[in-house]
Amino acid sequence: MIGPPLRLNLKAQVTRGNLYCVITVTMNLRSRSQLLGCLLALRFLALVLWAVHGAKALDNGLAMTPTMGWLHWERFMCNLNCQEEPDSCISEHLFMQMADLMVSDGWKDAGYEYLCIDDCWMAPQRDSKGRLQADPQRFPGGISRLADYVHNKGLKLGIYADVGNKTCAGFPGSFGYYDIDAQTFADWGVDLLKFDGCYCDSVEHLTDGYKYMSMALNRTGRSIVYSCEWPLYVWPFQKPDYTEIRQYCNHWRNFGDIFDSWQSVKSILDWTSSHQKGIVDVAGPGGWNDPDMLVIGNFGLSWDQQITQMALWAIMAAPLLMSNDLRHISPQAKALLQNKDVIAINQDPLGKQGYQLRKEDNIEVWERPLSDLAWVVAMINLQEIGGPRSYTISVAPLGRGVACNPACLIIQLLPEKKELGFYEWDSNLKTWINPTGTVLLRLERTSQRTSKLLL
Ligand SMILES: *[C@@H]1O[C@H](CO)[C@@H](O)[C@H](O)[C@H]1NC(C)=O
Ligand SMILES: *[C@@H]1O[C@H](CO)[C@@H](O)[C@H](O)[C@H]1NC(C)=O
Repeated sequence: MIGPPLRLNLKAQVTRGNLYCVITVTMNLRSRSQLLGCLLALRFLALVLWAVHGAKALDNGLAMTPTMGWLHWERFMCNLNCQEEPDSCISEHLFMQMADLMVSDGWKDAGYEYLCIDDCWMAPQRDSKGRLQADPQRFPGGISRLADYVHNKGLKLGIYADVGNKTCAGFPGSFGYYDIDAQTFADWGVDLLKFDGCYCDSVEHLTDGYKYMSMALNRTGRSIVYSCEWPLYVWPFQKPDYTEIRQYCNHWRNFGDIFDSWQSVKSILDWTSSHQKGIVDVAGPGGWNDPDMLVIGNFGLSWDQQITQMALWAIMAAPLLMSNDLRHISPQAKALLQNKDVIAINQDPLGKQGYQLRKEDNIEVWERPLSDLAWVVAMINLQEIGGPRSYTISVAPLGRGVACNPACLIIQLLPEKKELGFYEWDSNLKTWINPTGTVLLRLERTSQRTSKLLL
């Protein structure tokens, strides 16, 4: 009887930014390909150990996995017309209805916890003491009563403000009021702040403002997730310092607002893959790249495109902030957004963001390492003509050459769940991918013997 060629036991444990590894490697090499496999495995170890020195995250104990919730912007924008459109204007009524549904329709159980207000909640002026106030017609109970309502449902409340002189929609900005505003939000019981970057006249004001607000939130003593748009507004002038941004923010937007269209989703994926060298390694527990809201359940994406968004937001370890109407959503979109297997990938405790592995012939392959040495692989078919295309991939290079070494169990999670079986290191995997759709796979490493036994 011959033992497995390579036994590799790696236990990786992440505790608040520190990574501990216990490694045992037993080698019994019998061929060149096994030596290659082994070298690739060691390269992977080097990669994991390297992560120990990753950038320090904002120390507020929050967002250890990407934030999940609902955010009003993409679907409801700045609708102030409560006279004619009482069900879609930005009002406490809208947020109370969403809070009710987040609990009754399984969203909270699936992990969607933060109910977030975006721009246009404010009255046009601060009060006599210089504090922000909610629009009295649209939020008659004020934000503090809404926060109580949301907390009583077991949810958390997010709010929006701006680092500059005005919000993007022209409401009062926080420049000159950072301490007052942080304290006001804490007094109201707010749990997340999305801090926008409009109407800011210099990169210095922007950088100082984002940092100052982070410290002002900390000084309130309340745990408040801090969602920044800092790098997005720095990019036109210089390359953002992501190591610094991670020390102050729980997540940060890099790219423009998402729209309800395939063109928009595609442009976000293109931006992310073309900048991945600079942004992937900085993400991790406590601090995440934010590619913006999930628009699944709206009007602009086909079913396959919705699958692509869900799969790739999981690969990118993105905050999952839906912007849709939970009162009117198809059972299909709801099932996709509540897919436990895909959410588990997004929320994987190792917290390493995935990346684009290759792009060839209009197919993109992305992968992401998971805890327990599993990997997830996504294949997108970007060809917008014709029907489903077959794509054959050699499993050997997947997961830095170790995902299927010596063998792996492959489970397809999207478009529907099915077990594809065991694949040895030298085998190929053939899949069919719909136009603009994605096939999402989970790869679990197994020893050759186990796979032979089970086959
Ligand atoms: C404030 O920062 C300190 C040190 O960085 C940290 O220990 C503490 O938990 C933070 N408090 C809040 C409320 O975020
Ligand atoms: C806000 O406006 C004042 C007065 O015009 C200006 O001095 C200040 O630099 C502005 N701040 C920002 C962040 O744009």
